[in-house]
Amino acid sequence: MKQPLLQIALDHLDIPSALKTTRTLASEVDVLEVGTILCCAEGAHAVEIIRSLYPDHIVVADIKGADAGSVLAEMMFSRGADWMTLICCAPYETMEAAYRTASSYGGEIQIELYGEWTFAQARQWLNIGITQAIYHRGRDAQAAGKGWDEQDLEKITRLSDMGFKVSVTGGLSPEDLHQFKEIPVQSFIAGRTLYNAHNPAEAAEEFRKAIHRNWS
Ligand code: 5RP
Repeated sequence: MKQPLLQIALDHLDIPSALKTTRTLASEVDVLEVGTILCCAEGAHAVEIIRSLYPDHIVVADIKGADAGSVLAEMMFSRGADWMTLICCAPYETMEAAYRTASSYGGEIQIELYGEWTFAQARQWLNIGITQAIYHRGRDAQAAGKGWDEQDLEKITRLSDMGFKVSVTGGLSPEDLHQFKEIPVQSFIAGRTLYNAHNPAEAAEEFRKAIHRNWS
């Protein structure tokens, strides 16, 4: 099984703070995500800056878009994003429009799975051509005490069996990763556990070791 990638979510409130993190951690990760919070705070400019400073990384614009698919996709892919997120409740028309624009740049759309969604919808996303999904334990759900359980693992496995490349995120720590070890996870996405760590490079190394231990 292919080893999952390590993705950092840059959920900072401004570009200088995000760049402080990337200076320490870019060499430790495969994917740089301009997080939803940073996208809201600084806009598409943040994507442009990360792209220009890190030309060899996969760059994600985590905008969790819900409408105006082609406009948002044009905004993010023209600034160098490789992948862009849409929320799972976005209309199919939005997904199709974003997918077409993403494809014209050689980019990909990722569907962010939050709240209620169905496997019938997921089949439609595949029909559109979208093959990436992000299985998410939301910050607020985590704060309310939600852990990772058997149902999460079953859903992730089923999505993977359907043909999705599934990434996993939401308050992850290296100790969580073994729970997913039977699943071909595309990326583990971590934010706070990395950039708030006392030693972020060491924290990234712990993620790397956990990936290596469980997917070698
Ligand atoms: C929040 C997000 C976060 O970027 C993602 O969940 C990773 O952050 P953390 O590891 O801090 O939970 O998409 O909506």
